[in-house]
Amino acid sequence: MTAKTNALMARGAAFLGSETAILCGAMSWVSERNLVSAISNAGGFGVIACGAMTPELLDAEIAATKALTDKPFGVNLITMHPKLFDLIEVCARHGVSHVVLAGGIPPKGSVEAIKAFGGKVLVFAPTLALAKKLLRSGADALVIEGSEAGGHIGPVATSVLAQEFLPELAQDYLVFVAGGIGRGEMIASYLEMGAAGVQLGTRFAAASESIAHPAFKKAFFRAPAREAVASVQVDPRLPVIPVRALKNKGTEEFTAKQREVAALLDSGAIEMGEAQLQIEHYWAGALRRAVIEGDVENGSVMAGQSVGMVTKEEPVAEIIATLMAECEASLR
Ligand SMILES: Cc1cc2nc3c(=O)[nH]c(=O)nc-3n(C[C@H](O)[C@H](O)[C@H](O)COP(=O)(O)O)c2cc1C
Repeated sequence: MTAKTNALMARGAAFLGSETAILCGAMSWVSERNLVSAISNAGGFGVIACGAMTPELLDAEIAATKALTDKPFGVNLITMHPKLFDLIEVCARHGVSHVVLAGGIPPKGSVEAIKAFGGKVLVFAPTLALAKKLLRSGADALVIEGSEAGGHIGPVATSVLAQEFLPELAQDYLVFVAGGIGRGEMIASYLEMGAAGVQLGTRFAAASESIAHPAFKKAFFRAPAREAVASVQVDPRLPVIPVRALKNKGTEEFTAKQREVAALLDSGAIEMGEAQLQIEHYWAGALRRAVIEGDVENGSVMAGQSVGMVTKEEPVAEIIATLMAECEASLR
């Protein structure tokens, strides 16, 4: 039924140890034991979002996920986490098969520490030159993520990244494409360009198995693509990684928060590192408010532009089956 798709996904699926080469990208607060195990059990590849978790919390989350699935899954670690190496140690103890390093260039020794316990490493890279460097120096796979995606984003569209990176890298390396994928026809086109597989977030965030609050899911079902907007940087001296989320009071408050942090920076009350940390903590808190508490007015409803294609709550297995069928029909 999905022979052509399976053939093009074979490399990626073999690397992930899953049936399909469809990853559900880690989403803070959303990608926990329930969604991650559901994705892996349905033939996709789930990834736990460690976010700002302590090593103890990550330890418990991995153990709980293992209790719900015997299929492989990954753990996403944010490179700027102050306890990054302790978190890697937790992954080592559990024999986690795949670790995704997100949020910045992997610090010295981190890729090596993961490989030392037999874990496979997936990295992100903003430029082709950096991607080549990371892949040559030991990273096992690359995720390219375009600005259509939900959450923290780069400035370049997925369609452009795919044209720039895939012809150069896909032959020799495993490249997964993320950002703005809502249907299987799009998956087909990236596979035909040489992608090893794809990563989706928005399409899975409101799945039946997602623990996101019903109000968060409802906001997804209602929103058209144009409401998933990127945050704007207010002050040129305070570099803020843009975040794509549904437009609400919270996105406006973020502008005020930036002014507040910029003023602290100006007065010398805080340094640049602390300023950036305050911004990141703001996002983590605002996302929790929306995902867990269901405050979709003041919280951050992070969502990608593909949110317009999310119209109802569906079990993960159905979403994956639909994507695979659309992909196959397109390839034929
Ligand atoms: C609510 C939400 C939270 C996210 N949190 C994270 C995160 O903590 N770490 C990360 O690497 N990516 C995060 N992402 C990005 C996803 O892993 C994924 O790459 C992205 O959603 C793919 O693009 P799409 O939303 O267009 O499908 C998040 C995305 C969303 C929608």
